[in-house]
Amino acid sequence: MTYLVTGGAGFIGSHLCEALLRRGEHVVALDNFNDYYDPRRKRRNVAPLLDQAGFTLWEGDLRNLDSLKALFAQHQPSHIAHLGGMANPRYSMQYPLLYEAVNVGGTINLWECVARGKVKAFVQASTSSVYGLSPTPWSETTPTDRPLSPYAATKKAAEVLGYTFHYQYQIPTRIVRFFTVYGPKGRPDMTPSLFVEAMRRNQPITLFNGGEGVYRDWTYIDDIVSGVLAALDTDLEFEVFNLGNSQPVMLRSFIDTLQAITGLSVTINAQPLPSADPPITYADTSKALALLNWSPVTDIEAGLERYWEWYQAEQTNG
Ligand SMILES: NC(=O)c1ccc[n+]([C@@H]2O[C@H](COP(=O)([O-])OP(=O)(O)OC[C@H]3O[C@@H](n4cnc5c(N)ncnc54)[C@H](O)[C@@H]3O)[C@@H](O)[C@H]2O)c1
Repeated sequence: MTYLVTGGAGFIGSHLCEALLRRGEHVVALDNFNDYYDPRRKRRNVAPLLDQAGFTLWEGDLRNLDSLKALFAQHQPSHIAHLGGMANPRYSMQYPLLYEAVNVGGTINLWECVARGKVKAFVQASTSSVYGLSPTPWSETTPTDRPLSPYAATKKAAEVLGYTFHYQYQIPTRIVRFFTVYGPKGRPDMTPSLFVEAMRRNQPITLFNGGEGVYRDWTYIDDIVSGVLAALDTDLEFEVFNLGNSQPVMLRSFIDTLQAITGLSVTINAQPLPSADPPITYADTSKALALLNWSPVTDIEAGLERYWEWYQAEQTNG
């Protein structure tokens, strides 16, 4: 069986490729190595995989249907984990058309190929951002029709299209909504990396609302990967799952934990919360427990310790 991981050179995608290879699967990673953040980071993410048996890197763009068709003709993937796309709600405020082209248009292109292939399972990455300002905790039945950013709206559109294509082509499909993922190889535009970089340089960190009243349901990368694997392995026809830690942490307390682990001091630059960001994210994961036998196992202290270990090794190794 061959697993296609779109966005396979990214943060979550490269971890998933590693996990699939450890299981002995054939893996094709599709990525366009765009420069939303330094593409050398993405090259480093996949470098250790390049000479592993069963791994193929396909440099291509989800917006290029011909490239996708060629990939499907050559590799005939049996399982798809669609993680490729443009992330970050705030950045999407500046480039809504780019988000639409990649997250919606790119997803439709992928489905065009899936519909004609022999795909046994399609798992599509979505986001807690679809819940907007709905009251927490968020379960999969919580309303998602008022997203706050173009990013969230395009991910919601891709979810809805996922159902349509599943219905039309009878491909078993699972949508997985990730909640603020962190850990080794974490994206440089996300809070842990931004905070640690600023603390190391003795620069002030931007803290929305001074960290008070802002909560994030930080979810460790290994827990996300085990959730995606469970969604790939199940035989459910169509389901949506929250993959979150179910333990929201106030930003102020997140900083305190980071300080205790790193021993670095922090200066705070308090700013209002951007309009694209909800004050709280909080996953109800009881459905994933019931249907996938999945629940997160990594608490924020253990996860940040592992992130800090990785970060220090990165500094040493250049
Ligand atoms: N990291 C999180 O906290 C988080 C939370 C919710 C949802 N998600 C979703 O999970 C997925 C992976 O996120 P990530 O944090 O690993 O981000 P990432 O940016 O590290 O990974 C995404 C990858 O997709 C690739 N990509 C982007 N546009 C492409 C295109 N047109 N063609 C081919 N490849 C393209 C990028 O080069 C990148 O390597 C995304 O769909 C994101 O929306 C992430």
